[in-house]
Amino acid sequence: MSFKLVNIWNPKGGQGKSMIAVNLAAAAVEIKLKPLVICQDPQGTATLYHQGGKLPFDVVSKVPDEKPDANLVIIDHQASDWEVPKGKIILMPVKPARSQYKTYADAKKRAEAQGKQVITVVTDTSHQRADEIATAKRLIEKGAFEIPSSGVFSRADSDLVSIFDPSMDRAYKVKERRREFLQILGAIFTGMLEEEGGMKDVA
Ligand SMILES: Nc1ncnc2c1ncn2[C@@H]1O[C@H](COP(=O)(O)OP(=O)(O)OP(=O)(O)O)[C@@H](O)[C@H]1O
Ligand SMILES: [Mg+2]
Repeated sequence: MSFKLVNIWNPKGGQGKSMIAVNLAAAAVEIKLKPLVICQDPQGTATLYHQGGKLPFDVVSKVPDEKPDANLVIIDHQASDWEVPKGKIILMPVKPARSQYKTYADAKKRAEAQGKQVITVVTDTSHQRADEIATAKRLIEKGAFEIPSSGVFSRADSDLVSIFDPSMDRAYKVKERRREFLQILGAIFTGMLEEEGGMKDVA
């Protein structure tokens, strides 16, 4: 089976990397793909969710030697990892607060200098803060996706489920949030090349 690979990367902590890894994989299950999440940090969030036992996909903490039994591989990088990931597509979440932005901008420059295709996802935008709204707007104009600040993520977090879990069906605005993940998934698949060979070649 050939597979597609998405690295979720931003050296700044708390930007939404793990939140996106878990929910993007869950979105993939919705459209009948077989995702695998690689959680770089053995004590990381995605691993913790996996241990909760309610995710409809696997999470491993090591890059498999062989071709994975999956057609979408999502690598959830840990904070402070400044090494530009291998693989062609890098998804970078960023919270629009000014204090968070610089790391994203520096890391994105590094990735683009290496010819990577960077997909930006603005996360957790507060609709009360004018500066955050302005930063989010500027990024969206340049092609970024947005996952606005939403209570569904803390609710899902307390149950260690994705927002696609049936228990979340009646959560406030969950349909909007699910749609955003499906759109991001669609975009990363458009024109995206498949990686051949073993994981060691790309991760
Ligand atoms: N759109 C959003 N609405 C509400 N909360 C959000 C949103 N995006 C992210 N969060 C919250 O922000 C927190 C940090 O997210 P997450 O753990 O995914 O970040 P991370 O980049 O993986 O952090 P680390 O680098 O420490 O691994 C989590 O509590 C997550 O639920
Ligand atoms: Mg994380």
